[in-house]
Amino acid sequence: MSDIKATVVDHPLIQHKLTIMRKKETPSKDFRQLLEEIAMLMTYEVTRDFPLEEIEIETPVAKCKAKVLAGKKVGVVPILRAGLGLLNGVVNMIPSARVGHIGMYRDPATLKPVEYYCKLPGDVAERTLIVVDPMLATGGSSAAALTQLKNKGAKHMILMCLVAAPEGIKVINEEHPDVPVYVAAIDERLNEKGYIVPGLGDAGDRIFGTL
Ligand code: PRP
Ligand code: URA
Repeated sequence: MSDIKATVVDHPLIQHKLTIMRKKETPSKDFRQLLEEIAMLMTYEVTRDFPLEEIEIETPVAKCKAKVLAGKKVGVVPILRAGLGLLNGVVNMIPSARVGHIGMYRDPATLKPVEYYCKLPGDVAERTLIVVDPMLATGGSSAAALTQLKNKGAKHMILMCLVAAPEGIKVINEEHPDVPVYVAAIDERLNEKGYIVPGLGDAGDRIFGTL
């Protein structure tokens, strides 16, 4: 795996929650809740290097200098549908973030991504976009979403996924070397249907109960 580049956010709380999500008997209600919680925890790590600046404030006790986030504003872009499962967790941590949506489904026969929706904040070029999707399998959907976002003017993006296959990370590294990839786990491989092994199954179906 030395030829792939991704940050694995392997905090014990994330790993514990992910294990519960992987279990086939975990119901949609718990799956959704855990995904939102992991999204919050991953956002903490994804934003670790965001720049700060000092401002003057006044507490009830004294004037002082205090730190606030500086630099670019943030946008969150879930890749529909399953990316919606990560959205609230990120927005809970960054309430001022604008939200764009990009609709992408994977054709079951070809495994190629098909785009069906795209609606973004107008000032997308001035924002750091956190693009979220729980699953990075062949990498086709995320790579196509990043390409479309660049076509719409995005300049600074981060890809945040829950579970990745090495193949998917490689595709993002090759097609979008400028986009850092954050994942909670890198699994073994893809199976013949393009599912991540061991993975957690179809994320969208498990989030929305459409199995
Ligand atoms: C899933 C997942 C990713 C994609 C990953 O979406 O949420 O978007 O598959 O596979 P890839 O890396 O091989 O492209 P899916 O197509 O099942 O659509 P859904 O989110 O609407 O369920
Ligand atoms: N999409 C999913 O939801 N799960 C996989 O394992 C692969 C693609």
